[in-house]
Amino acid sequence: MKIIIKDTAAEASAAVTEILLQQIAEKPASVLGLPTGGTPLAVYARLREEFAKGRGSYGSITTFNVDEYIGLSLHDPASYARYMRENLFEHVNVKASRTNIPDGSASDPDAEAKRYEGLIAACGGIDLMLLGLGRNAHIGFNEPGSLHHSRTRRVALTESTLEANSAYFASGAVQPTHAITMGIGTILQCRRIVVLATGPEKAEAVASSVDGVVSEAVPGSALSHHPDTTIVLDKAAARNLGIAQPMELRA
Ligand code: GLP
Repeated sequence: MKIIIKDTAAEASAAVTEILLQQIAEKPASVLGLPTGGTPLAVYARLREEFAKGRGSYGSITTFNVDEYIGLSLHDPASYARYMRENLFEHVNVKASRTNIPDGSASDPDAEAKRYEGLIAACGGIDLMLLGLGRNAHIGFNEPGSLHHSRTRRVALTESTLEANSAYFASGAVQPTHAITMGIGTILQCRRIVVLATGPEKAEAVASSVDGVVSEAVPGSALSHHPDTTIVLDKAAARNLGIAQPMELRA
């Protein structure tokens, strides 16, 4: 696992933006896995800015979002489908038909999860998966206890995740308690994984994922099974890491 620590969240986001731009420059038909949440907003803003300046071509890429709430339509203000359109897809030359997000309004979420897993395989798998990290070390919506070989499926969200994400729902809006998420096993099959975590509220999740025991209690710890994972942090998110991390890994 490669660890990159930058002074600020802005610098960490810039580093991740460069990784993504390099990926699509080297392989224009890349299949990207994408996250939502507050953390990647600065990455998407930078990608939009760079595209407006003429940098980055998305015409041949395919995207798969890691998760979506069950019960929200494509147009719901809190849906990840809408988040992706507003924060990235509508601003770059990606083909809408090649952007994939689990359908949170599907009448049979289990069948939808199976369809989504099959679609990822049919596209030849994901070249680069960008992930955030939940405060309880969840990846996608794989909450503590998720099996490391789990596949795309319907999951129940924990109290701590519901509380952390309540900020993204307007007052009075119904917050879903379930989601469809790529499984940890699905994520581990991606050829390359990049995790972005910033801010002091992620320090514990980062330390338990990177320095802790590999266990189903800590979804992020599953990433140590993967041969090509890079974790990009700001100093605040890295502050609980042990001195066991070799300094040369800190860029
Ligand atoms: C959310 C998303 C995850 C995201 C994580 C961190 O619940 N489902 O995909 O990576 O939690 O979110 P944030 O960046 O807002 O802290």
